[in-house]
Amino acid sequence: MNIELTQEQRMIRDLARDFAQNEIAPVAAKYDEAGEFPWETVKQMGKLGLMGIMVPEEYGGAGLDTLSYVLAMEEICKADAAHGTIMSVNNSLYCEGILQFGTEEQKRKYLVPVATGEWVGAYSLTEPESGSDSAALKTRAERQGDVYVINGRKSWVTNGPVANALILFARTNPDLPKHKGISAFIIETDKPGFTAGKPEHKLGVRASVTCECTYENYECPAENRLGEEGEGFKIAMTILDNGRIGIAAQALGIAQAAFEASVKWAKERHAFGGPIANLQAIQFKLADMATRIEAARLLVYQAAIAKDRAKQTGERYTKLASMAKLYASETAMFVTHQAVQIHGGMGYSKELPVERYFRDAKITEIYEGTSEIQRLVIARNILREQL
Ligand code: CAA
Repeated sequence: MNIELTQEQRMIRDLARDFAQNEIAPVAAKYDEAGEFPWETVKQMGKLGLMGIMVPEEYGGAGLDTLSYVLAMEEICKADAAHGTIMSVNNSLYCEGILQFGTEEQKRKYLVPVATGEWVGAYSLTEPESGSDSAALKTRAERQGDVYVINGRKSWVTNGPVANALILFARTNPDLPKHKGISAFIIETDKPGFTAGKPEHKLGVRASVTCECTYENYECPAENRLGEEGEGFKIAMTILDNGRIGIAAQALGIAQAAFEASVKWAKERHAFGGPIANLQAIQFKLADMATRIEAARLLVYQAAIAKDRAKQTGERYTKLASMAKLYASETAMFVTHQAVQIHGGMGYSKELPVERYFRDAKITEIYEGTSEIQRLVIARNILREQL
């Protein structure tokens, strides 16, 4: 696949690269250590148009395509994957959800402030007892006149402690089986009945705060329902198709950062009479890392292009998004593992960012669908296709 980037795509990539290297990289370790949300840089990202890259300009976004988004994500994540998590939830889970399923009024009220970076958005599907099996969710939204009264508990809500608004999935009809009784809602988090819990202590992406959220008789206006009643599960899955491309780009960025650090280290570090880059044991690792990164990049770009093409054709790009996420996240894990090994003791020290890349890579194999779920999605799609 020969991908010739447009001038616009090169511009957003370069803008993201300059910002990431100059503003994010110097503070990444500090926020990681503190597990603190990096407000200052996130606000700047909003001003640069990085919080609503694919949102049309009329709704406050940058109006760019998915490949532009992927290129920018990769650059941000090369500097710090946690900033990438915040960016991806805003862009591909929240903004794309409202853009695809929202009414004109919902877009004006809830898309514009998040796309401009004034607000932070989130997405809330998972519950303490339903992770991979999303259709088993129990949070209840009961229609009472003009409102839905919501009760329940959600977990692992990325951006949850700081979000102004989020997309929530809840059960509107408990009599219908599994995914059929689920609906989606736009929730304002400053209203009574909503509580964001304490941020979780996590292994990686520590600056992207994550928490449980509880709903106790939260009254959501009926006009804040996203899509029709009972359509919630399909909305959740369609949004996750977008999201998985974003996480794949995040994984790619982490892998690229770990790879570049390893090449530099291999040339500088001396052992057995010369730079360790002269040793085949190191060369073979670098060759495997580079090859997997290139393959992952092709899959990620292909999924991004397929997503934009789907706007015209209406075709689903589910399989390609899952392939990109599966391969890129396993590549990030492989590459960061090798990078720590190449760096030896220094790879295990907080003096260098390599140990952070290693910790950050792991989540890409878990959130927005574990690697096992991606394999399940890919296999189901293959078996449905006509050969
Ligand atoms: N797009 C549109 N519709 C879809 C779809 C998609 N990608 N995938 C499934 N559907 C539809 C199906 O066509 C089916 O519709 P019909 O009833 O009309 O036939 C319906 O949805 C049910 O589909 P399945 O039978 O395949 O559903 P399932 O219960 O077997 O589940 C699953 C499928 C793939 C396992 C799904 O539950 C899944 O993806 N699980 C993982 C969830 C996940 O990624 N969670 C992470 C949440 S976000 C997060 O990590 C935190 C954060 O803050 C970032």
